[in-house]
Amino acid sequence: MPKTLRKQIRAVREEMRSRPPGLRAHVERVLEEALDLADRHDADRERVELATVGHDLFRAHAPAKLLKLAKEAGILVSEWDERSPVMLHGPLAAVVLRERFGVDDDEVLAAVRDHTTGSPEMPLIARIILVADKIERRKRKRAPQLPDIRRLARRDLDTAMLCWADYKWVEERERGWDSYPAHWEARVRWVAEHHADIGLPPRTDDFPDELGLATGL
Ligand SMILES: [Fe+2]
Ligand SMILES: [Fe+2]
Repeated sequence: MPKTLRKQIRAVREEMRSRPPGLRAHVERVLEEALDLADRHDADRERVELATVGHDLFRAHAPAKLLKLAKEAGILVSEWDERSPVMLHGPLAAVVLRERFGVDDDEVLAAVRDHTTGSPEMPLIARIILVADKIERRKRKRAPQLPDIRRLARRDLDTAMLCWADYKWVEERERGWDSYPAHWEARVRWVAEHHADIGLPPRTDDFPDELGLATGL
């Protein structure tokens, strides 16, 4: 492992020692899943580890503190974030990792920034962190859909993300919650890519006339 990466992981882990034990335990459970996915999808374990240990640096901060820190860090705070400051914990962690811990790996930073909602374009590390964060052991026990999404993620990360987005959509509708715009934007792209990927069957009028399959006959 490159020396800088090792030092960064150590420094972020050291910072996490001041965070609540429950949060630290969550990060370790996410790491277990993330490393497993890294091996299966051929991602760099150390970069995945750095993103994982840093992803929830600010997850336990109080809403008012998060808002204040995010504004001080120059993050664009939307009215949605004002209402749910917890949504800022990823973007804030990404800024702090870059500025205080010297992380300049754009894919690691994107993984940290977008781990809560996802985004339309996600590098492999970001997709791994997002999924690992949702399927860790404790969360899996609370929702019967998550073990299936975990199994799927081992084979196909993109479809697993889409299934997770569907699960989340149903949960939001059932509970009367709104869909966070950044997540919705990501979801729309994932759905479009999935449809493009599986390929729709041709329309009837796409067939040549001589096959006798044209419309209007
Ligand atoms: Fe988080
Ligand atoms: Fe997390």
